Amino acid sequence: MTSTMFNERLDQLPAYPFPRLAALLDGIEPGQSPLVMSIGEPQHEPPAMITDAMVKHANLWHKYPPGAGTPELREAIKNWLDRRYDLPTDMLDRDDHILPVAGTREALYLIATTVIPQDTPGPKPKVLLPNPFYQVYCGAAVLNDAEMVPLAAGPENGFLPDLDQIDTETLDACRLFFLCSPANPQGSIASRDYLERIIALARKHDFVLAMDECYADIYDRSAPVGALEICAAQGGNMDNVLVFHSLSKRSSAPGLRSGFVAGDRKIVKRFTALRSYCSATIPMPVMAASVDLWNDDAHARENRDLYRAKIDIAEEIFGNRFGFYRPPGGFFLWLDVGDDEAATKKIWREAGVKVIPGSYLSITDAKGNNPGKQFIRIALVHDLATTRDGLTRIAQALEN
Ligand SMILES: Cc1ncc(COP(=O)(O)O)c(C=O)c1O
Repeated sequence: MTSTMFNERLDQLPAYPFPRLAALLDGIEPGQSPLVMSIGEPQHEPPAMITDAMVKHANLWHKYPPGAGTPELREAIKNWLDRRYDLPTDMLDRDDHILPVAGTREALYLIATTVIPQDTPGPKPKVLLPNPFYQVYCGAAVLNDAEMVPLAAGPENGFLPDLDQIDTETLDACRLFFLCSPANPQGSIASRDYLERIIALARKHDFVLAMDECYADIYDRSAPVGALEICAAQGGNMDNVLVFHSLSKRSSAPGLRSGFVAGDRKIVKRFTALRSYCSATIPMPVMAASVDLWNDDAHARENRDLYRAKIDIAEEIFGNRFGFYRPPGGFFLWLDVGDDEAATKKIWREAGVKVIPGSYLSITDAKGNNPGKQFIRIALVHDLATTRDGLTRIAQALEN
């Protein structure tokens, strides 16, 4: 028998997209000055209030931050949720329903540890996720010994999983369902009706719906509906529902590591318990800055306007070519280029722009389909002039 000192489930994870991209482009010289549009890392100027709060609260660095965040932060988050989704003020209790987290990445991973039953007899519990997907969902499923069930989210179903295609057996075995709206990478937004249906399924089949809404404040025409809005319309019933939000995109501050989860109080309670054993907490000065950011909508509006202006530029450049559509939410273009890896290499070789092949964000499902493989994802994270330059170069390379 061979033994290993490592967790062998790590070997079951697909290679992370960015090292894969580095390997794909290795040895290819960029034809023009290099520009990175592969990573969804906002390059907009973060609001000055972050620095102001850090300076003002510098006396708090000596404190261990409370795992559940400060009451002020939970209060600011509650007030933002109430404003953003027009919730009745008595629906969310800041102490029972809201848990600040050090970025949603870790929370999206740890929710799986919180809710997936361990050591149960019979087949593995299932984790359902859209395909393509934010990679952490996959890590959360595999490392918690669940079976990952990717659900194709291609153009034929409006870039969202088709809920009618999921069989009852799968739904019964599902313990956790990740959904992202607005979706990374496609920018699709789940409608009110869609959310009503998925929440009803969560309750009927008793799984947790983990709604990744971290792009909620970045949208083109109309504000994406949130899962808590559906709960509000149902008299405030938040059973089985958890939403994930972040300041990384809303406030162009991914380095801050500040987000939260909110929803079903039973899950929030267990999640809080789990996090006290393993989680990074948010430093006190960062929490103070986060209070100011959640309390302010003006900077988020400016941010959104800037993204919209870049989508205008993209529309001007791509028109109806390469399957271009205005992403309803988020800040990615999801272009249909036929062969994703070939296009990515060509764009790098000829235009010097780094984009990411769609199939690096998706996996081949049981039927042999990989819904990402004909697409590339382009992150519109730079300033207007840089974005115009990058998109013009990409279009030229694709036309050649
Ligand atoms: C869909 C999605 N969810 C979650 C995250 C994690 O964001 P953060 O950990 O910065 O809050 C990202 C970051 O790129 C993302 O694209």
